[in-house]
Amino acid sequence: MRILGIESSCDETAAAVVTLVRGRCAVLSSVIASQVETHAKTGGVVPEVAAREHVGAIMPVIEQALADAKLSLKKIDAIAVTRGPGLITSLRIGVDVARILSYLLKKPLVGVNHLEGHLYASWLPSVNRPVRSVFRFPILTLIVSGGHTELVLMRKHLQYRVLGVTRDDAAGEVFDKVAKMLDLGYPGGPAVSKLAFEGNSQAIVFPRPMIDSDDFDFSFAGLKTAVRYHIQKLKSRTRAIDADICASFEQAVVDVLVAKTIRAAKKYKVTAVLLGGGVAANRRLREELGEAVKKELPKVSYEPPDLAYTTDNAAMIAAAGAFHAQAKHFTVWNKLEADPNLGL
Ligand code: KG4
Ligand code: ZN
Repeated sequence: MRILGIESSCDETAAAVVTLVRGRCAVLSSVIASQVETHAKTGGVVPEVAAREHVGAIMPVIEQALADAKLSLKKIDAIAVTRGPGLITSLRIGVDVARILSYLLKKPLVGVNHLEGHLYASWLPSVNRPVRSVFRFPILTLIVSGGHTELVLMRKHLQYRVLGVTRDDAAGEVFDKVAKMLDLGYPGGPAVSKLAFEGNSQAIVFPRPMIDSDDFDFSFAGLKTAVRYHIQKLKSRTRAIDADICASFEQAVVDVLVAKTIRAAKKYKVTAVLLGGGVAANRRLREELGEAVKKELPKVSYEPPDLAYTTDNAAMIAAAGAFHAQAKHFTVWNKLEADPNLGL
């Protein structure tokens, strides 16, 4: 089965072609037109600007994805598109294009939840692991992105139980805000983690909110405020001081994420721990979660997604769409609606 995936929920316009054969995905192409340079000028995404950029980019990106896959639209078995959550003005561009293509070419259409995409990124092969494991259920995935921090339990394909969510800021959002406090630019996550690499993660003891709470929710607003107060109290700043702040902040976030993920993995006796979302690109998180799984749950498999599929992309949308298509979860073109608040 060959699926064309389309993603436009925030500030990346993306298209990809993915195949699903006997439970395994392969990526024939994955194209992303990033708006990072545009939004860096305003220090964040301006929805109206993002939508305009999607309009200009979406058809060339789809054409490129098909060309890279050496396929024409006629050879595609189904079209999968992100229908939410995200910015409504951005989502609608992808959804409208997918609807039109589905109507004109009489191709089945699948609406995909963006978070499902981040979950199914783990099913995509990576450079280091060309053949992904076929994971056994139950599976626990930690989704950490710019808008979400969620622990999701899957007992079978396409079935999700959200065990915990953030009560305030998402993990990626606090990375972006701390980057702003330190004038590190947009997007903040990669900048903070790059500088953190030079710093001492034990230099400052920032709070680890809700690390011991007996639920699986998160809260990062208090940590963000602690970082702000710490910066405000400083008489002067150097690159080394900022690096210590980044490393200590990053360590606090990672400690909370790892502790809660391990606790949930134990409670629900999962066989695999997976990661998804932009913050899954964070090296400290990838490594420390891996070490914790190895130490505390030696029989549980841990395979972080390829870096290419952590931040927003369409291959992950096509992968989730492929499993939906296999289950015949299609929507008629004029019934598919973008939903900015769609939950799992
Ligand atoms: O999944 P994503 O591309 O978009 C959303 O669905 O939100 O995630 C973007 C988020 C941003 O907040 C960005 O700062 C963060 O992921 N991010 C990182 C890293 N790379 C991206 N956060 C920490 N460390 C990174 N290396
Ligand atoms: Zn995302």
